[in-house]
Amino acid sequence: MPISDRLRLGVNIDHVATVRNARGGDTPDPLRAAKLAEEAGADGITAHLREDRRHISDRDIDALMAGLGVPLNFEMAATDEMMQIALRHKPHAVCIVPEKREERTTEGGLEVAREENRMAHFIAPLREAGCRVSIFIAADPAQIEAAARIGAEVIELHTGAYCDAHAEERYVARDVELQSLREMSAYAHSLGLEVHAGHGLTYDTVGPVAVFPEVRELNIGHFLIGEAIFCGLKPAIAQMRELMDAARSETLKTSG
Ligand code: PXP
Repeated sequence: MPISDRLRLGVNIDHVATVRNARGGDTPDPLRAAKLAEEAGADGITAHLREDRRHISDRDIDALMAGLGVPLNFEMAATDEMMQIALRHKPHAVCIVPEKREERTTEGGLEVAREENRMAHFIAPLREAGCRVSIFIAADPAQIEAAARIGAEVIELHTGAYCDAHAEERYVARDVELQSLREMSAYAHSLGLEVHAGHGLTYDTVGPVAVFPEVRELNIGHFLIGEAIFCGLKPAIAQMRELMDAARSETLKTSG
């Protein structure tokens, strides 16, 4: 599999729905945000339909499937209910994430290694339906190997621990996390997996991940929606895109 110079940006619009749901009603509209994100250079839109529907709703997924010009990356837990919804819509990509009701966000990666059989059976119908299946996991060789064995095409590496360590100024821990993300991106790529990454990325933390040559896509949401309050959604996305491209051009220079 060739290493690509083009790093895709998937914009996660969940938290546009969070703001809407704080009051009920229809505004702000996640589809409108998604279309602005497209105009600002997003290569795809990510939306997580959680079991408790705390942000994205079933109607949002209908609207995104009907109205988007770029691919939808549909994030979901490995449940029967979500499987039915995914098979009804057949989005471009399905990213399987762990989900606990009480958590504030997706806290860790999926446990694939200990649930290999169940996960292999779970993703088979999605692959048959033509969806690219991505598995959201920690930078852990056992999880990566299991993801490859069950036939996932893509893994998304959880960048949360790296971003948390940076935000909390634990720089030694941050650098350890970054090193592990670097090594595991290369390892996953060597096993034939396409590598994506995301969770908690900001303007400050995106560059060091964007330089990894094996990473093809970053999925970023919460920070961008927050920045949009201050400068607007399109400028926030454009700025992120610029930082990603600048970091990537460094990769190209060093790889000749
Ligand atoms: N990737 C995955 C698999 C996620 O679950 C999330 C959060 O929903 C993100 C990326 C985006 O994370 P953030 O909103 O912190 O940028």
